[in-house]
Amino acid sequence: MKKILVIGATGQIGSELTMALRSTYGGQNVVAGYIVGAEPKGELLESGPAEICDVTDAPAIDAVVKKHGIDTIYNLAALLSVVAEGKPKLAWKIGVDGLWNILEIARENGCAVFTPSSIGSFGPTTPHVMTPQDTIQRPRTMYGVTKVTTELLSDYFFLKYGVDTRAVRFPGVISNVTPPGGGTTDYAVDIYYYAVRGEKFTCPIKEGTLMDMIYMPDALKAAIDIMEADPSRLIHRNAFNIASMSFAPETIYASIKKYKPDFEMVYDVDPLKQSIAESWPDCMDDSCARNEWDWNPVYDLDGMTRDMLEKLPARILK
Ligand code: SER
Repeated sequence: MKKILVIGATGQIGSELTMALRSTYGGQNVVAGYIVGAEPKGELLESGPAEICDVTDAPAIDAVVKKHGIDTIYNLAALLSVVAEGKPKLAWKIGVDGLWNILEIARENGCAVFTPSSIGSFGPTTPHVMTPQDTIQRPRTMYGVTKVTTELLSDYFFLKYGVDTRAVRFPGVISNVTPPGGGTTDYAVDIYYYAVRGEKFTCPIKEGTLMDMIYMPDALKAAIDIMEADPSRLIHRNAFNIASMSFAPETIYASIKKYKPDFEMVYDVDPLKQSIAESWPDCMDDSCARNEWDWNPVYDLDGMTRDMLEKLPARILK
């Protein structure tokens, strides 16, 4: 049985990934790593061990890895794209210096490492339609710079030291549990909150702007499946394009309108978010993930909308 440490276990992806890993591998085998000020609560706290794990504090993480006999690290610490533009140096410190710490600890303790990349690792000169697995990556955001570095450094540690690094490039992740903070794709989460509360939604992204998105259950499946994949089949490692749906604001609005006909949306475009969104792919080609480890998502846009509108009210309406 794997012994897993999740770094960023109380964040947007970590809070659900930790629970999914615990149901797969057993609560006691998955340590929730968190930072002071973002302590685990409720089910996350009660279902298994938790430890303070600041990605910038290598000795502390090394001690946690040794104490729990960790063999797999999910390193989810990062600042999302819009926040990272306001704090580029901190984004680098967490995303790159932090990754260096994790990779060194993994090398010394024989751990496998998953550090996600993103659609943000692409830039304006990347082919936008059916973006290939191997293509131009010249992002102009600090988030993107850290994600390309993540991919290169993770591959480097695999090739030079044999550290078992693997990852996916996440699309915008949509969930009904923990909201994202400061990403470009956040509008596609926020829109459901407004629809469920019966409020008009002001969309910060321009009509016609396509981006890849994924529903959380598929994102969790990808993170678990890639680490379980047969290594002899992997031609790529860091990181695989994964796709399940791509849409523009008017398309997700139409999907919600099918179930909430009175829902209204207007546009007030945010120039920073719009320029970031336009630099990212319209839709990625994920055939390498499908061929090398049988990636096969479950949810399309309408399936996600139905599930969000069913589950979100219980969480946000009192
Ligand atoms: N969801 C991220 C963001 O918008 C992209 O990976 O920053």
